[in-house]
Amino acid sequence: MLTVALPKGELLRNSIDLLQSVGLDFSAFLDSGNRQLQIPDTKFPAKALLVRAQDVPVYVEYGQAQLGIVGYDVLQEKKPQVAQLVDLQFGYCRMSVAVKSTSPYKIPVDLPTHCRVASKYVNCAREYFQNLDLPVEIVPLSGSVELGPITGMSEAIVDIVSTGRTLRENGLVEISTLYESTARLIAHPLSYRLNTGNLQTIITLMRKLMITKT
Ligand code: PRP
Repeated sequence: MLTVALPKGELLRNSIDLLQSVGLDFSAFLDSGNRQLQIPDTKFPAKALLVRAQDVPVYVEYGQAQLGIVGYDVLQEKKPQVAQLVDLQFGYCRMSVAVKSTSPYKIPVDLPTHCRVASKYVNCAREYFQNLDLPVEIVPLSGSVELGPITGMSEAIVDIVSTGRTLRENGLVEISTLYESTARLIAHPLSYRLNTGNLQTIITLMRKLMITKT
């Protein structure tokens, strides 16, 4: 039996479409009335788990799912022990440093030492500023990070930018990009080697699909 961990939210529809194109149907997760968190495929011995995006690598790392689809941003933040297999070329976004558009800081090293930087991605933020050799205080938040500079709690944020609309509508501007992110196919390393649930077939099909896209 093959188990795939799928992320709730932005990446779900594309993930389900992609799995459908390699023969696995978990489209029931897209039904607005659906509350089931685990559904079987109708034809193949496979099932999918619907989990928070940040938890996809957890299920894969512990081997409860042999495969998972998750953003590169989550992998960068959590650094899980999983095999990163395929760039799935959807879910583009970038991790950026942003400040109030009225602020005098034009590049990250303009920020005052020991200033506060709010983020949901505390590890990414910490590593970035350490590499710049700029000591800052990372303020962990779980969402609506843009409010950090708006309320004056922090001078800057490190957050995901997709369309850029949230920054614009909250009077913030990007001053640097840490990295770009897309959805990735990940696998439990031992299951990958043992080809549990014939997962290699799915991986090969996905790789071929990605090659034909480019
Ligand atoms: C993410 C991110 C930004 C927004 C960026 O938030 O943290 O706030 O999306 O998207 P945009 O560039 O297309 O406007 P999310 O929707 O996950 O909400 P949250 O802040 O409550 O976590």
